[in-house]
Amino acid sequence: MMRVQSLFKCGVILLSSALVAMAPLTPSAAPQSIDSQGATSRSPAGTFSTQQAANGEKMFKQVCSPCHNTDQMSGSKFRSRWADETVGDVFDFISSAMPEGNPGSLSAEEYSSIVAFFLRESGYEAGTSDLPATLEPLKAMRIEVPSK
Ligand code: HEC
Repeated sequence: MMRVQSLFKCGVILLSSALVAMAPLTPSAAPQSIDSQGATSRSPAGTFSTQQAANGEKMFKQVCSPCHNTDQMSGSKFRSRWADETVGDVFDFISSAMPEGNPGSLSAEEYSSIVAFFLRESGYEAGTSDLPATLEPLKAMRIEVPSK
């Protein structure tokens, strides 16, 4: 008798805690288009400044051009290489793998300026503030599949 009863109790407790756990999901509709934790994506257009892209170009020519040319990193080549990935993926890749042989040798700001340069060369318009140099906000910027 005791066992059955306590099993029953136990079941009631489990069930009610399951209901409590589910409760917050049911009543209010999930907010959409709110950029909490970068969950919603936006275009990279206007996310970097002209000055930043110019700095990135200088840096790229100094550090990366022995192995790469601008053409390879820009325009539709850039867009189709990174289509449907985020600006954060580009930043993450170059800051952890490039320059080959000496990865991570630039500052986060320098990597970020190089990404700004890639964006400019790929036809995105500059804005007034700099592209951030941290991964989190960059992950919210999605590179669209080129239309052509
Ligand atoms: C010593 C030569 C060398 C230097 C210097 C170098 N890279 Fe690379 N990079 C490579 C090689 C080799 C690959 C191909 C590696 C791979 O695909 O895994 C590559 C791949 C890349 C890619 C991916 C391209 C693609 O189409 O997949 C990017 C972006 C990139 N490099 C950016 C940079 C940037 C930015 C710098 C300067 C900070 C830099 N690289 C400096 C050799 C170099």
